[in-house]
Amino acid sequence: MAIEIIATGRAIPPRRVTNDDLAARIDTTDEWIRSHTGIGARHIAEADVAASDLALEAANNALSLAIERGAVTEKSIEELALTIDLIVLGTTTQDYYGCPATACIVQDKLGAYNAGAMDITVACSSFVYGLEAAAGLLTVSPERKRALVIGAETLSRIADWNDRSICVLFGDGAGAVLIEKTGAPAVGPGRRGLVRSVLGADGSGAQALIVRRGGGRNPLSAGEILDRAPGIEMDGQAVYRFAVAAVTGTIEKLLLYEGITISDIDRIVPHQANARIVQAAGKRLGINEEKFYLNIEEYANTSSASIPIALDELNRAEKLRRGDVVMTVGFGAGLTYGGNLIIW
Ligand code: ACO
Repeated sequence: MAIEIIATGRAIPPRRVTNDDLAARIDTTDEWIRSHTGIGARHIAEADVAASDLALEAANNALSLAIERGAVTEKSIEELALTIDLIVLGTTTQDYYGCPATACIVQDKLGAYNAGAMDITVACSSFVYGLEAAAGLLTVSPERKRALVIGAETLSRIADWNDRSICVLFGDGAGAVLIEKTGAPAVGPGRRGLVRSVLGADGSGAQALIVRRGGGRNPLSAGEILDRAPGIEMDGQAVYRFAVAAVTGTIEKLLLYEGITISDIDRIVPHQANARIVQAAGKRLGINEEKFYLNIEEYANTSSASIPIALDELNRAEKLRRGDVVMTVGFGAGLTYGGNLIIW
């Protein structure tokens, strides 16, 4: 019994904002942003689009692809949605603060009336955690067979657009994967699907990447006048150091636990926060840059959406072949990190 990814989807808001567009408004340059991050543009959702809207579009695209490629016997999205047992949605930018879970809004709009639904909120590591959580929940119950794992973000809503050290980094988008418990073996020759994950956290770094206002620690009060909207604050250099160590350590652990070497891996799909983080980790481990899939130039950091967006791009371009060994690596606020090893 294996847990396999049988389809992927993504949603990218059409409004594209380039580095030069930002440079026309704030004190920055295309050269600074590219040389420090690898980012060239980001896509920003319209004001009436929330994380659940992007998540729904990505989920619909994943279901369409499953039907189109014959990965399922159902013939329509409506029929297929009814077979989903679970929706796990990673997001840092829920439609509503605290409750309800954004996954519930997607569940209803998708017509997945037989699915349980929950959010995972470990920032940019949410997809990695969500895939492992969903796989575990399918495995423990004979009744559950299919799940949607989604990462969806409207980070533009929590980025301070007057702070050049923050706003240039983030973008909006969503990615989704449809996973299924199949008859393929999960161990031994011919094994498939999600074979192993590493999940980690270092809460001592909680202050390094944080939205301080609006929670139970620092609630907003009636009549309060804010000088700026509650948004993300970051100690960039501390996060950078953590991220390089997290990517390096996660890759090393997955290889060690699995008893394989980097030459056994066909693709590494890292969280896209900064191309320099990936390059530094690759250099430390002596991994050829080509092995990492990077699309940060077009989308910037879309937090929990970045890995499933990248998986969908690779999948639709047929750059992932059956049997390929794929590693995901995520890191983010919490601080959290983790990775999945998947036989495609
Ligand atoms: N344009 C021009 N100059 C800028 C910009 C900008 N957009 N942003 C900062 N600068 C300036 C600073 O003001 C500073 O100027 P000064 O020396 O005159 O004071 C100078 O550039 C250097 O600033 P640093 O912050 O030291 O730049 P650094 O090289 O560390 O790069 C960066 C900053 C890109 C943010 C880097 O630290 C980084 O990538 N950190 C990790 C970010 C990350 O991965 N975040 C994950 C968030 S995901 C999540 O969980 C939501």
